[in-house]
This record gives sequence, C-alpha cells and structure tokens, in this order.
Amino acid sequence: MSQLLDGQSAVVTGGASGIGRAISTAFARHGADVVVADRHEEPRRGGSPTHERIRAETDAEATFVECDVTDGAELEAAVDAADAFGGLDVMVNNAGIFGPMAPVAEIEFEAYRELMAINLDAVFRGSQIAADRLIDRGEGGAIVNVSSLAGLQGYAQLTPYCTAKAGVKNLTCSLAAELGPHGIRVNAIHPGEVETAMTTEDFPVFGTENADELAETIPLRKLGQPEDVANAAVFLASDLAGHVTAESLLVDGGARNTA
Ligand code: NAI
Repeated sequence: MSQLLDGQSAVVTGGASGIGRAISTAFARHGADVVVADRHEEPRRGGSPTHERIRAETDAEATFVECDVTDGAELEAAVDAADAFGGLDVMVNNAGIFGPMAPVAEIEFEAYRELMAINLDAVFRGSQIAADRLIDRGEGGAIVNVSSLAGLQGYAQLTPYCTAKAGVKNLTCSLAAELGPHGIRVNAIHPGEVETAMTTEDFPVFGTENADELAETIPLRKLGQPEDVANAAVFLASDLAGHVTAESLLVDGGARNTA
C-alpha cells in the first residue's frame, strides 16, 4: 500500500469506535503514528482496542489516551501525546454523539448543551490546541473535522445535532482562512449514514428495513461504511490534498446533491 502519511503523527478524537477507529487504522496503514483519544478504550461494537489493533496489524506506533473532549486539559494532554511521535501533524476532531431527537419544545436545554459541548465546542477547542502546536512547529499540517450531512441541511426533531454540525462546517472555513498562511489546511467531512454503533444502537437505521429503503433513495444505492469516511480523511490529511482547504467533502453516496 502507498504510504500517504509516512512519518506523520496524528491525533484522532473518538478514535476507539466507528468512524474514528477506521480513520485511526487507515492513517496507520498509510504510515502515520496515531494517538487514539477517547473517553472509552473499548470499541463500542467489540474487537480489540484501536491502538492495539494498529500495533498488531501495521508498522505504525499507536497509543491510547483517555480523554473526554469536553475537558480542555484532557484534550490538551491528548494532543501533546503526539510529541512522543515527533509532534502533531494531523488533528482529527471526530468524537461526537447523536441526539437529542425530539420536537424542539421538548428538548431539555441541558441535553442541547451537552450535545453542543461534545459536537461543536470540543471541535473548536481541539482545533485551537492543534493550531497552537502546528504553528509552533512551523511545518504546516492538517486539521480534519467530522461534520455530517446534517451540517448542510436541516432535519426535523434533530435541531441540536444539525446546529452543531453546521457550526463545524463554518468553523472549518474560518480556521482555513486564518491558518492557510501557516501552511495548515482545515477541511470537513460530511458523511451520510454510516454503519457504526451510532446508527445501529443510538439511532438504529442499519439492521432495520429503513436501511434498504434509505439506500434506494441515493445514487450509489448503498449506505456508508466507516472505511469510506476513513479514505476521505486519509486524502484530506495527505499531500494529495495539498491545495485543498476550507472544503466540505461529502461522503454520502450522492445523497445530498441529487433528487
Ligand atoms: P460512534 O458512537 O461509533 O463513535 C463515537 C466515538 O466517540 C466513541 O468511541 C465515543 O466513546 C467517542 N466519544 C463520544 N463522546 C466523547 C467525548 N465526550 N470525549 C471523547 N470521546 C467521545 O459514532 P460514529 O458514528 O463513529 O461517529 C463519529 C463521528 O461521525 C461523530 O462526530 C458523528 O456525529 C459523525 N457522523 C456519523 C455518522 C453516522 O452515520 N455514523 C454520519 C455523519 C456524521
């Protein structure tokens, strides 16, 4: 396999499970050493912890840092764990939760705040810490933020999630404008439905008849796998995307741009 990220060091929040696990593993397969930052070490859908899988299956280094992304000190410690691998090159702000899903009048403000703290505030803070370290190093770098199709359009009864993910999109554009002169590229990925614990347990789509119905409505006639998003992240993190910044990259089988 080509080593698109040879010699790079990456931090992936929410790297224990789902999309973050796939991104961490794909990065390692492309030669990057990876800090897996998550509040849980065990993958939500089973298997060995991501950092152990990387060590067993690739030549890359990997470590796990227990980190709640809503805690600034823990997030900072996770980013600084990349120093053991030569210093941060790539930051992936991926950790996120689903919900609360309810009519807007019924959503507890505390639930809204919790969602925003994880899905938006922590992306801001993770980017802020990463920018500081990357500017200090003076070698450029990349920040990849995981937004959603729900960051580009509204969905009824999903206002907090859509609001946070839309915030991630414009945060990405603003940071790209500011950090571009430092050679730091900032991009967002907007996945459609992807098979993870989020979509099998928290908001079950996969494993239900809705999955087939949903797949039939999109051009590629299939829903996404974590590896689909991981491949996009590898591209955005690598020199292949050397002139790509402030981009919103859809990984949705064509759902968004077709009728
Ligand atoms: P997942 O639930 O499988 O994995 C999320 C990971 O984030 C878990 O390991 C969890 O422990 C971690 N996490 C959650 N809150 C955290 C916190 N406060 N601090 C540290 N780690 C935390 O979910 P999935 O599907 O892999 O989601 C990853 C990202 O992709 C999220 O931002 C999600 O909103 C986004 N996304 C997912 C889609 C899907 O269909 N699965 C579609 C579009 C976007």
